[in-house]
Amino acid sequence: MNVLLTGGSGFIGRNIMAALSAAGHQVRPVSRRSGIDFSRLLTPAHWLPHLEGIDAVINCVGIIGEHGAQRFEPLHTLAPTALFRACAEAGIRRVVQISALGADATAFSAYHLSKRAADDFLRGLDLDWFVLRPSLIYGRGGKSADLFMRLAAWPLIPVIGDGQQELQPVHIGDVVATVMGSLTSPAARQTLDIVGPETVTFAEWLQRMRQAQGLGRAPVLPIPFPLAMALTRIGRHFSPMLQPENLRMLQTGYWADVRPLAQFLGRLPRAAEPGLFFSDVLSMGSPS
Ligand SMILES: NC(=O)c1ccc[n+]([C@@H]2O[C@H](COP(=O)([O-])OP(=O)(O)OC[C@H]3O[C@@H](n4cnc5c(N)ncnc54)[C@H](OP(=O)(O)O)[C@@H]3O)[C@@H](O)[C@H]2O)c1
Repeated sequence: MNVLLTGGSGFIGRNIMAALSAAGHQVRPVSRRSGIDFSRLLTPAHWLPHLEGIDAVINCVGIIGEHGAQRFEPLHTLAPTALFRACAEAGIRRVVQISALGADATAFSAYHLSKRAADDFLRGLDLDWFVLRPSLIYGRGGKSADLFMRLAAWPLIPVIGDGQQELQPVHIGDVVATVMGSLTSPAARQTLDIVGPETVTFAEWLQRMRQAQGLGRAPVLPIPFPLAMALTRIGRHFSPMLQPENLRMLQTGYWADVRPLAQFLGRLPRAAEPGLFFSDVLSMGSPS
């Protein structure tokens, strides 16, 4: 297959790229690294030249916080909807959209709402679409995974409030396996939550990350939510990840029923063993 892969230079994208290449597909990457800025491709006419000879499209462009010219609406909603409409015009039926867990009726953040708008648009088209909503993804080289890994190594683990927010982290290999399945599955027109097999608290997740680094358990340092919010108002100037809204999303916690994913993959997603924290599709050699 000839696959247009947007966001191919990112954490999820480069792992998908590795799996696609290993499976013998030809990949046309789209991101600023390949000279294409999503915020300039806001109509189907902008996209059509990029779709010549393409059989399937996978969209994994995204940002976790707005900064500079990087804005949610063009990157998460306007460019993807223009791309999806162009796919319909060009007769490209297979479209896989990487959304995010929580981009549903409960969404409150600009991040989730802008993702959901593109998801809804795609679901309304007569295409063989998949909307995939990953939970927090771990594995080698993920930006949030790396940040949490660094926090976990501190002698006192900082957590928000009591640190009991619930998460259902999933390994990058399972995300890629789901994307690869979505490319060929006859059961298209599905929204799938990509979650791990287990729900853990944020505090426990950081303890596991410590363990993966060969460190013993550490005491937690509870940071009251209002103080954490105040700190992100300073922190956001240094990292787009440290946005007050991201803290609110973390505080909310996200989890979902793992059974539809297990049925789709024909197995449960992987349990978080220490070695997996430092592995990805490139190091594992296979997404399945
Ligand atoms: N990682 C997670 O835990 C997780 C969980 C759930 C959902 N997601 C979603 O999955 C998507 C990808 O996540 P990720 O972890 O792979 O993020 P990432 O490593 O930050 O990658 C983001 C990708 O988007 C591209 N991009 C950003 N701005 C662009 C622009 N203006 N024009 C064209 N391309 C642009 C980047 O390429 P260039 O820099 O080369 O432009 C990069 O390839 C995001 O939508 C994210 O919200 C991630």
